[in-house]
Amino acid sequence: MVSRRNLLKTSAALIAGGTASLGDTPNRFAEIEGRIARHDLKDLYKEDLPTPCMLVDQDIFEANLRKMANHCRTTGIHLRGHVKIHKSPEIAKRQIALGGIGVTCATVAECELMSSAGINNILLTRQPTSKNNIGRVIALAKRDPTFGTVVDDPLAAEWLQAGAFSEGLKLRTVVDVYAGLTRHGIEKGAPALDLAKQVDRSKNLKLVGIMGYAGAAAHTHGWTDRLKKSREDTAGMLETVAEARSAGLPIEIVTGGSTGTYNIDSESKGLTELQAGSFVFMDILYREIGGKDDPHVYNDFGMALTVMTSVISHRHPHRCTIDAGNKALLKPTDQVKGRPEVKVENQGAEYGILVWNDTDRDFKLGERVELYPSNLDMSTNVYDRYYVTRGEQIVDVWPIMGRSGAPQR
Ligand SMILES: Cc1ncc(COP(=O)(O)O)c(C=O)c1O
Repeated sequence: MVSRRNLLKTSAALIAGGTASLGDTPNRFAEIEGRIARHDLKDLYKEDLPTPCMLVDQDIFEANLRKMANHCRTTGIHLRGHVKIHKSPEIAKRQIALGGIGVTCATVAECELMSSAGINNILLTRQPTSKNNIGRVIALAKRDPTFGTVVDDPLAAEWLQAGAFSEGLKLRTVVDVYAGLTRHGIEKGAPALDLAKQVDRSKNLKLVGIMGYAGAAAHTHGWTDRLKKSREDTAGMLETVAEARSAGLPIEIVTGGSTGTYNIDSESKGLTELQAGSFVFMDILYREIGGKDDPHVYNDFGMALTVMTSVISHRHPHRCTIDAGNKALLKPTDQVKGRPEVKVENQGAEYGILVWNDTDRDFKLGERVELYPSNLDMSTNVYDRYYVTRGEQIVDVWPIMGRSGAPQR
């Protein structure tokens, strides 16, 4: 059995790009899996993990959560963080502990996952229209009267009314109004007002508010352009909120917003709550939109999530192969942590390529390389767990659940 100290030496040599022999490394995989199951993480290090795997830097992650919580507290907006980014009750609960009022979910499976983890005040942000999804929504509301869903169509409102009637309950319902993304949202003004009135009249639906998700503004590059786009895209929805209130409709909540526009949304004073999600980890697509202070880098939130890979072949100059490819959703836009000059290429299901030029530092066989994913939601969807790290140490392991590959979606 190789001692902990020898393992650490091996790791140090690898990290330093040395040539330590791995031949005498014991197979600790089963032992590590058993310890993770028992939550016994003592002396567990990044070097012990299989790759590719997903790492969360605890300090950066917690700073992101605190920053958003403080922002919400000082600006008087609530956070109902979107879980589709992380699919983890552990993360949702931490946000709620810091003042979050509940969660928003994209799928019924995510709602079920959060609800069974004991989380209340869940809002489904994608209208349910199948018999399967409506049945499950009604079951969620039966279990938890604080659960609610959005609706953007009078027909869907009728179906939900019928479902809620059959169980004798009142389903919290939010009217989803178009805010610049053609994928959902009823037109502002009369159509939206009529739908809100229909919901309000429906015996088994309880109108609670309006959603307007300005998703096209979220990733607009440049602070000034983002501000302009956000204001344009939310204007019609906010007018509708004012009209609905003047018509005496009970609009308690106005929900929307994103990581890219969080400080625009809170300034507009129209939204009562923010659905931002990606800020917990951040990704390259967000990092590149530019911030208020830096036109090139959006650094309001830190890059907490990486995919750790291993160098598995190094037979050609200025390039090496890593063990993450198309199946790990490796993208040429991903970036290597600490090595921004390195280019990423995918070369098949299980292979990725790193390319650098003459003057750059080399990579060694077996070296661990961490990558920032381009698009969080897609990447977290192909991993089973987050390994939470402090330096080299693994301090926690959180399962990633309710993934969209699952048939029960
Ligand atoms: C309806 C809705 N709200 C909120 C979000 C969260 O946005 P972000 O992850 O950009 O903060 C999303 C993400 O696509 C969404 O679809």
